[in-house]
Amino acid sequence: MLRIAVLVSGGGTNLQAIIDAIKSGAVTDAEISGVISSKHGAYALTRCSENGIPSKVVALKDYADKAARDEALVMAVQSFSPDLVVLAGFLTILPKRLIKLYPNKIINIHPSLIPSFCGDGFYGLKVHERVLERGVKVTGATVHFVDEGTDTGPILMQKAVEVLPGDTPESLQLRVMQEAEWKILPAVINAIAHGKVKEKNGAYYID
Ligand code: GAR
Repeated sequence: MLRIAVLVSGGGTNLQAIIDAIKSGAVTDAEISGVISSKHGAYALTRCSENGIPSKVVALKDYADKAARDEALVMAVQSFSPDLVVLAGFLTILPKRLIKLYPNKIINIHPSLIPSFCGDGFYGLKVHERVLERGVKVTGATVHFVDEGTDTGPILMQKAVEVLPGDTPESLQLRVMQEAEWKILPAVINAIAHGKVKEKNGAYYID
């Protein structure tokens, strides 16, 4: 059984997609052992209590400085003994120590087709604003392993989504979630749970 720790900062619709996929049997041999939120009052925490999932809050404002918060975050993750850490809308830079502790055991969902519209400053609605400003006709989402860079780790799965005339950042965000994020994140977790992620010549693929 793959033990998953999910890190969130907001609404937690991707967390919900994982919960639903486990309930429906679309994801098997995996369980959410705990959720960590970087914000008090995040709706993702309500989803945890509704589903009997243990949760913790590690918010910067509760600590003397970033170093103390980082240490608390590492301890909170370790307390759930995860085999896999999933960043599901976690809008905080991960401590380097955490990344080193879990090599190729941390995945992130990003709301664009990496390497487009990613890196520092590209998160949440901002990504979709930049997509619309640039006028691209296809966007999407990416699940990748987390390394020490921002959105630079090995890509595991991507799904394209059409940009439609009249899209707003909000309408595009919702379509990218519905058509891509909520599908590929559970799909990658299921693949990892079943040992189907393989590496060849430095690139990763799902067998
Ligand atoms: C999602 O669109 C996710 O891809 C994005 O934040 C949103 C969180 O929504 N993540 C990033 O931008 C990371 N760079 P959710 O809380 O409803 O899952």
